[in-house]
Amino acid sequence: MSGVFEVQHPLIDCHLTRLRDARTPSDEFRHLIRRLATLLAYEATQDLRCESMTVTTPLTTTEGSRLGERVGLVPILRAGLGMIDPVLDLIPTAEVWHLGLYRDEATAEPVEYYSKLPPGRPVDTALILDPMLATGGSVTAALETLKAWGVGRVKMLSVLAAQEGIDNVAAAYPDTQIYVCRIDPILNASKFIVPGLGDAGDRIFNTP
Ligand code: PRP
Repeated sequence: MSGVFEVQHPLIDCHLTRLRDARTPSDEFRHLIRRLATLLAYEATQDLRCESMTVTTPLTTTEGSRLGERVGLVPILRAGLGMIDPVLDLIPTAEVWHLGLYRDEATAEPVEYYSKLPPGRPVDTALILDPMLATGGSVTAALETLKAWGVGRVKMLSVLAAQEGIDNVAAAYPDTQIYVCRIDPILNASKFIVPGLGDAGDRIFNTP
């Protein structure tokens, strides 16, 4: 299944509004990112594969399930770091594979500066974590790296996206599932999402 999922939930509306507010301080911003990442991950993991198992309760045995696939969380540095912990809380057996990418301020093109994916043994499902999808250049670069690793299924979790960036990613990698809290209409001349929320990395890490 491929596609773009703009997750609808009243808590997403409320948290996103606080996130957008330029007066929201960094500590609250980090908490809001975590809450939104949890809601996105809940939606994005509905089709994870499970295996049946038997569990012994204090009273009897009964049928249950355990995760039947290797899941990799792939945060894009820096801003993606803010989404790891809430998703790892939901999937404690997940592996975390960091990718370092920054967007060149002059060209808005992604520049890779860190990748340590091992040759062979790719995860079954990768969840790319990055709060922002603007031109889509960074996530497209991440997808290229993950496909070269051999990952079968990739899902992108992003708090805020621009329609233009979504279209670019879908054109380059049509089998990618993209989960977002909101798709904003405009990328301005500096390739910033409008109305947007500013620079998520700077607001998470309180760097002006
Ligand atoms: C931001 C954001 C994404 C990227 C989105 O990162 O967190 O990684 O830009 O833009 P794109 O879709 O046009 O590629 P930034 O380059 O500001 O780095 P940072 O996370 O270190 O702040």
